[in-house]
Amino acid sequence: MALRMKVCMFVGLFLLSLAWKAAWAKVQVNMEDRVEVFLGDTAQITCMFTVSDSPDNVIIQWYMITKTNVRLRIYYGNGTMQVVDRGGQFTDKINVKGMGNSSEVVLTIRDVKLEDELEFICHVNGMSAGSDEGRTALKVFASPDRPIITGEESGISVSNEYPTKIGSCEAKNGYPRPNITWYRDQSSLQNTPGEVSVVTLVTKESSGLYTVQSDLHLNVVKKDKDSLFYCEVSYLVPGGTKMTETNKINITVYYPTTSLDVWVESPKGSVKEGDTVEVHCRANGNPQPPFTFMHNMEELESDLNVLVLKNVTRQSNGNIMCTALDLDTYEETLGQTELFVDYLDPAVLIPKHTHVMAQGEELMATCNALSSLPTHTVWFKKGKKVAEGHTLTLKDAVFDMAGTYVCVVKVSSLEGLETSGSLRVFVEGRPEIKKSADPVQEVSPEKSQKLSCHARGYPTPVITWSSSDKSQILKLSQRETEDEVLSVVSIKVTSDVTAYCNASNDHGTVSFSFSLKAIVQTTSSAPSTTVTTPLVPVTVVAPVTVTTVTPVTPPKRVKKEGSGVIIAVIIICILLLAILGSVLYFLYKKGKLPCGRSGKQDLTKPNKGGIVVEMKSDNTEEAVLLSVNGDKKPPSDQGDKYMYVQK
Ligand SMILES: *[C@@H]1O[C@H](CO)[C@@H](O)[C@H](O)[C@H]1NC(C)=O
Ligand SMILES: *[C@@H]1O[C@H](CO)[C@@H](O)[C@H](O)[C@H]1NC(C)=O
Ligand SMILES: *[C@@H]1O[C@H](CO)[C@@H](O)[C@H](O)[C@H]1NC(C)=O
Ligand SMILES: *[C@@H]1O[C@H](CO)[C@@H](O)[C@H](O)[C@H]1NC(C)=O
Ligand SMILES: *[C@@H]1O[C@H](CO)[C@@H](O)[C@H](O)[C@H]1NC(C)=O
Ligand SMILES: *[C@@H]1O[C@H](CO)[C@@H](O)[C@H](O)[C@H]1NC(C)=O
Repeated sequence: MALRMKVCMFVGLFLLSLAWKAAWAKVQVNMEDRVEVFLGDTAQITCMFTVSDSPDNVIIQWYMITKTNVRLRIYYGNGTMQVVDRGGQFTDKINVKGMGNSSEVVLTIRDVKLEDELEFICHVNGMSAGSDEGRTALKVFASPDRPIITGEESGISVSNEYPTKIGSCEAKNGYPRPNITWYRDQSSLQNTPGEVSVVTLVTKESSGLYTVQSDLHLNVVKKDKDSLFYCEVSYLVPGGTKMTETNKINITVYYPTTSLDVWVESPKGSVKEGDTVEVHCRANGNPQPPFTFMHNMEELESDLNVLVLKNVTRQSNGNIMCTALDLDTYEETLGQTELFVDYLDPAVLIPKHTHVMAQGEELMATCNALSSLPTHTVWFKKGKKVAEGHTLTLKDAVFDMAGTYVCVVKVSSLEGLETSGSLRVFVEGRPEIKKSADPVQEVSPEKSQKLSCHARGYPTPVITWSSSDKSQILKLSQRETEDEVLSVVSIKVTSDVTAYCNASNDHGTVSFSFSLKAIVQTTSSAPSTTVTTPLVPVTVVAPVTVTTVTPVTPPKRVKKEGSGVIIAVIIICILLLAILGSVLYFLYKKGKLPCGRSGKQDLTKPNKGGIVVEMKSDNTEEAVLLSVNGDKKPPSDQGDKYMYVQK
């Protein structure tokens, strides 16, 4: 029992002494566990303390714990002096603030290095009050450079047995060591035997910083061709963790071909004869294997995946096959398509080329062209549509039905397929004469008159010209087609005459007559007027009226009885005027008449736009032909253009 009492008392005293000691401890130090700072920055380690009495009489000492766990003083300070210990790691880059009666001192470390990552002890000695100390660990951080990702350049086959490297990520110069995590699309990749393998290589640089390289090895599958891969680098910073992502890469996945697609790339839609056909082949594998093309079991040369067939015909119809040998699996794959070439043969007309029919007869002509597609036929004559469909029917043939019929056969569903043929139809019968010029014409005698006659009929008519008085008829030209003739002649007329154009063939003769009237001219009336015109204004007017009248009036009077008397009277009048003119001219020359020479010039000068009159003694007719513009028509045209007088 006594022993038990003794033990109890001893324990009680021990506890009491502890309590007493705590109550009497008069120095207390308070410090943070750790201080975190970026490499190169300034670190501040705070040491807070309380001293129960004589607070201005404390000694502060700072220590560091070396990597080899040795305690080394780096600073000493009391009320009167502060000493940084010489020759140490921190000699030149620390200072301590807040000495004396304050309850806080701060150790400042400039330009923190990696080797500064140590434990620091703050020891406070309060002399009579006793002493205490605390410790803080300094942590240094360095953020790594922006991470870099590199993907495999070459393709990766899905048939590889083991995971294959697909890319590499690197985070340089970080502290502490950063971590790298790989992602495929949105999900992170963990080491999985046989599937995923991430190999990490950590290098400690001479600077003490870490470089981490991470290689991703993957057993790729086909859908990885569409996946995006990237890395995430996580690293510590003061007060937390940061993350940086690399950019995303894709990889080339090689996977075997299991089927081939073959199609006609051009032309789009239907193929017709003569087209150049382009056939394409595509494999569903990667890379595209080498292709071989067969056209109706015949191997053809091709350029990569394109087969070109030039100028196809219906013989090109059939099977086009594309085969490929996968170089990885050595399996052959096959794809095929059918080629169909549409065609349109040349048009076949019945009857062929030409057909001769009698008037009143009927013709059923057909035009057909063999085609792989429905066709549409249209018949044209002289560019005008005359019928639609394969058959052309001509009933009750007349001359107007003769001509060239063109049938055009088209495939409406396929542009460019078109053929045509033509049929010449002749309608037999007596010739017909087309009215070309007036049957009655007035002609000046001794002049050649042109006559033309246009006849049609089949067989080709023969044109013969004749005249009532054996006038000389000169053939100028003759144009002939198979059922038409155009004949032009010139005839010299001395008196009224009838000219005949007779057109004849096996079926008969037709005749067309031209009645030519000779115009008798007054030839002697003009000469004296030439002299008188310049003289007086009055005389100027006279020739104009005379000449404009001559072409119309004299010819009509010629035929009237007693016109000779009138002509004689006119001649006498003109002669009198001429004498009067001569007298006046004489007086003027002698200077008795006040007329300027300019008057004469005005009259002789050609006057464009006005009526110009030039009289010639031998031919009054020619004077008439001076037109309003002053142009002189060539005499050969007179008959056609000027001298027609219609009854
Ligand atoms: C401070 O320390 C120095 C050197 O040890 C000493 O000479 C000095 O007397 C001390 N001052 C006080 C106030 O203790
Ligand atoms: C510390 O001492 C200064 C004079 O040296 C005095 O002004 C100040 O009040 C004191 N502070 C404390 C907390 O004792
Ligand atoms: C890095 O990874 C290790 C192990 O998974 C982990 O303990 C550490 O906290 C990570 N570091 C960072 C910065 O994420
Ligand atoms: C994959 O990369 C290639 C070139 O590197 C690029 O042309 C292609 O667009 C990329 N595909 C995707 C899905 O990003
Ligand atoms: C196309 O083929 C046809 C028939 O074989 C031939 O007549 C024609 O000349 C060819 N055309 C070209 C441009 O080769
Ligand atoms: C032409 O026909 C006319 C009238 O029918 C006739 O008088 C003339 O003799 C014919 N001429 C010839 C050359 O047959």
